[in-house]
This record gives sequence, structure tokens and C-alpha cells, in this order.
Amino acid sequence: MKDDNRNGTMIEMIKVSKTYPPDVYALRDVSVSIADAEMFFLTGMSGAGKTTLLKLLCSMEYPSNGLIEIGGRDIQKMRGKKLAKMRQKIGVAYQDFKLLLDRTVAENVAISMEVSYKKPQLINKRVKDLLEILALTDKHNAITGELSRGEQQRVALARAVANSPTLILVDEPTGNLDATTTARVMQLLTKCNNSGATVVIATHDHSIYRDTPHRIMELRNGKLHLVREGSAQ
Ligand SMILES: Nc1ncnc2c1ncn2[C@@H]1O[C@H](COP(=O)(O)OP(=O)(O)OP(=O)(O)O)[C@@H](O)[C@H]1O
Ligand SMILES: [Mg+2]
Repeated sequence: MKDDNRNGTMIEMIKVSKTYPPDVYALRDVSVSIADAEMFFLTGMSGAGKTTLLKLLCSMEYPSNGLIEIGGRDIQKMRGKKLAKMRQKIGVAYQDFKLLLDRTVAENVAISMEVSYKKPQLINKRVKDLLEILALTDKHNAITGELSRGEQQRVALARAVANSPTLILVDEPTGNLDATTTARVMQLLTKCNNSGATVVIATHDHSIYRDTPHRIMELRNGKLHLVREGSAQ
């Protein structure tokens, strides 16, 4: 996502609103700038608009108003190959996972790397490493639909980060996990962040951001409020 005019900014949202018919205001005039290699936490009550905001960032939904730039480019103006290329650089772990339930865990994790024609050897190693980090080694060949929700959640995360995207969007990554497994998930995301990825995490779980130096913002009535300034940048 190289661009000369981006000044170290990965995400720029300017006065973004999203309404769903007939009259749900999910987001109202949201403006925020998220830096390259920042880890950013998005909180808010159920229904506050967290998932909506993430969906706008990966072009799964389009804003009703406002401007969104990723890597210095207006994502609503992107079409065809450019849009496909940008999407390959964004890894998304969806709140409802969106996994291929009839395929194995390894196949699900490998998908983003296969789409970008990585070598099979490289793919196999990355899949193995990620499954080990997330304590899923014994599920490598398991059918994904037979896994528990907490296991599926980790498969979704492994798939999101496998191809080393420059932007990682994760929606409630620890909702179904115990404290030990939560720590593994956060270690992986921190590792990706330390390698230079911008990471945006939507969560209710204050335990995952409480002791970090990262910026936290909260959605309330569709508006974005600063909870705590980051001290990591
Ligand atoms: N496709 C849709 N059609 C209509 N309304 C929607 C749609 N998607 C979301 N909404 C509404 O928009 C608001 C924001 O929803 P969103 O899923 O973004 O919240 P959230 O903060 O992610 O909640 P949760 O913590 O429960 O995941 C809610 O009022 C929701 O009902
Ligand atoms: Mg949500």
C-alpha cells in the first residue's frame, strides 16, 4: 500500500456515517486517523457500531456519507484489480468467522496465501507455525465445522494473519476464549504489530487492552470517543 502522500497514516476516516434502512444510524460523523503500525482498540456496547466500522474498512459495506482512505487511497474509488490488490493486504477475522466449515483447518488458514500464489512449502510452514502459536496443532487436519467456537475463532485469526497483511482487522478475537488462550491470541497480534502491521481490534474484553500502551476509542450512539490516548507511537 505504498503511496507518497500518506504521511505514515494507514487509515483515514473523515466524517463517516452509516445508516441502515429504514432508520438505524450505526455510525455518525466518525473521524479518525490510524497510523502505520499502530495497534488500535475499538470498544463500545453491543450494537454500538464496531462491526459496522470494520466492515467499512474492508469494503464489505459502503459508507452512507464521508471519506475513507486506506494507505492514502480513497477506497470507494477503487475498482477491479486495484481493489483486489488492496484487499489482499487486509486480513480480517470476522466476528462470525466466515470459515469454510467443510474444509480442514489447514485449508482454511492457507487460503489467503494460496490466493496470492505463495509457494506450497512456505504455506505449509506458515500454517504449521500459526497453529502451534494458537495451540491448534492437533487440529491441523480436522474438519473446521467440527471444532468448538473458541477453536474456530482462532482458525479465523490464523487465516487473517497468515499472508502477513499490512492491515489486520479483528472483530471480538477473544469472545469465546479462556485467559491462557486469550494471551496466546494477543501475543500473535502483538507479534504482527511489532513486524509493522496496523492492527485494529474491536472488543468488549477490557482485559486485552487494560495493560497495553495502545490507543482506545469507544463508540457510543454512533459517535467515536477517545477513552485513552496511546503512548506507544
Ligand atoms: N445489515 C444490517 N441491517 C440493518 N441494521 C444493521 C445491519 N448491520 C448492523 N445493523 C445495526 O447497526 C447497529 C450497529 O451494529 P454492529 O453490528 O456494528 O454493532 P457492534 O458494536 O458490532 O455490536 P456487537 O458488540 O453486538 O457485535 C446495530 O443497531 C445493528 O442492529
Ligand atoms: Mg460486532
